[in-house]
Amino acid sequence: MLARTQGFDVRTASSPAAVIAMCEAEELDVCLLDLNYARDTTSGTEGLDLLSRLREIDPTLPVVVMTAWGTIEGAVEAVRRGARDYLQKPWDNARLLATLSAQLELRRALRTVNRLDAEAARTREAELPVMVARSRAMQQVMSLVERVAPSNASILITGEHGTGKEVLARTIHAASARRDHAFVAVNAGGLSDGVLESELFGHVKGAFTDARTDRTGCFELADGGTLFLDEIANMPLGQQARLLRVLQTGEFHPVGSSRARRVDVRVLAATNADVAREAAAGRLREDLVYRLNTVELRLPALRERRDDLAELASVFLARARGGSQRRLGASAMQALLAHSWPGNVRELEHVIERASLLASGDEITADDLQLRPRGDLPPQLEDMTLEQVERHLIERALAAHGGNVSEAARVLGLSRSALYRRLTSLGIRS
Ligand SMILES: Nc1ncnc2c1ncn2[C@@H]1O[C@H](COP(=O)(O)OP(=O)(O)OP(=O)(O)O)[C@@H](O)[C@H]1O
Ligand SMILES: [Mg+2]
Repeated sequence: MLARTQGFDVRTASSPAAVIAMCEAEELDVCLLDLNYARDTTSGTEGLDLLSRLREIDPTLPVVVMTAWGTIEGAVEAVRRGARDYLQKPWDNARLLATLSAQLELRRALRTVNRLDAEAARTREAELPVMVARSRAMQQVMSLVERVAPSNASILITGEHGTGKEVLARTIHAASARRDHAFVAVNAGGLSDGVLESELFGHVKGAFTDARTDRTGCFELADGGTLFLDEIANMPLGQQARLLRVLQTGEFHPVGSSRARRVDVRVLAATNADVAREAAAGRLREDLVYRLNTVELRLPALRERRDDLAELASVFLARARGGSQRRLGASAMQALLAHSWPGNVRELEHVIERASLLASGDEITADDLQLRPRGDLPPQLEDMTLEQVERHLIERALAAHGGNVSEAARVLGLSRSALYRRLTSLGIRS
């Protein structure tokens, strides 16, 4: 009666079953819950059980419990079980109304956040990967993609660094019947044996010292969807064996669990290595390759598809901060076409980003791109800065080894990680 006089739209129920029926039937904003229902009971267990049920039905419904004098433990237990607040009986009218109003306001704020999150998630899902594929070399790849994407076939994507292996994997997922389920990407080459195992298959609490809670692995996250295994040639051999078994049986065990789990996952794998050579050298299991490359897609290097340069550049220009007003001038276009792009599409993306920041006018010039036009003649060392020499030697080493960073690092006398740092600082790859 008090709440009604204050303009609240009130529903009442006098048994746990009636409360549950009501909460299932309509979405309520706040629940004021007494802890005892049956005549002559004061234990509060009825109310506490009901509270737990309500939390299961609608975890966002704020529940305010009412307790009698002397049963403060009941109130504490209620808050522990998820009640937002409690009032002691006999209650103070002003305090009761203030509590209800505060919970309503909180609930409205939480709903707004939830709605914005859901919207953001939906637009992210709807966002298809941009895949520029105008050139003949890419058209061949895309016509194969069109045929194999809707199937469940395992696809191995090969290509140099930065050629777009991951965007292609996303494109395949988006073109498959699995598009409404997850696309989960794992870098299989960058993690140690044990870490990768729990990343892929999850673990149960207590499986090892740091396993304080259960963890869901990528195979389970990707159930119904697509799992993208990147850098497959660098996967530790022990995990290759495990992966092969999963692919053969469709079953896996989380680390520390003896219960097998079944999932429905399509696997796409990628590598920038020469698969045949890695297999011959014993670094990549041949039987695993057979499982993964039902179809093999090779992404051409950017220098083999110069017809894509202009469109790629304008896509990246539109994406770059503040770049929307600028356009590429003729000299810039010429410089783009003359460059050899050892870092492929990713290098182009970085070059355009940098240029859109550097350019002073409406038009991006060749100078803004900071590319060295490289003819057949080697540039004169004396005319170059140290950074240009470094860039030149690194690009040459990468080009000579098909973009393979390990090989390039070896001939340059650098460690792999030292080369990666230089590639990043020079903007050749991220
Ligand atoms: N055909 C394309 N159309 C539009 N953008 C592309 C295309 N190919 C690549 N990109 C962009 O270039 C960047 C590099 O692509 P991606 O990460 O897929 O390359 P990758 O082959 O996986 O590289 P790495 O071997 O180094 O991991 C990304 O930002 C991607 O969006
Ligand atoms: Mg990649």
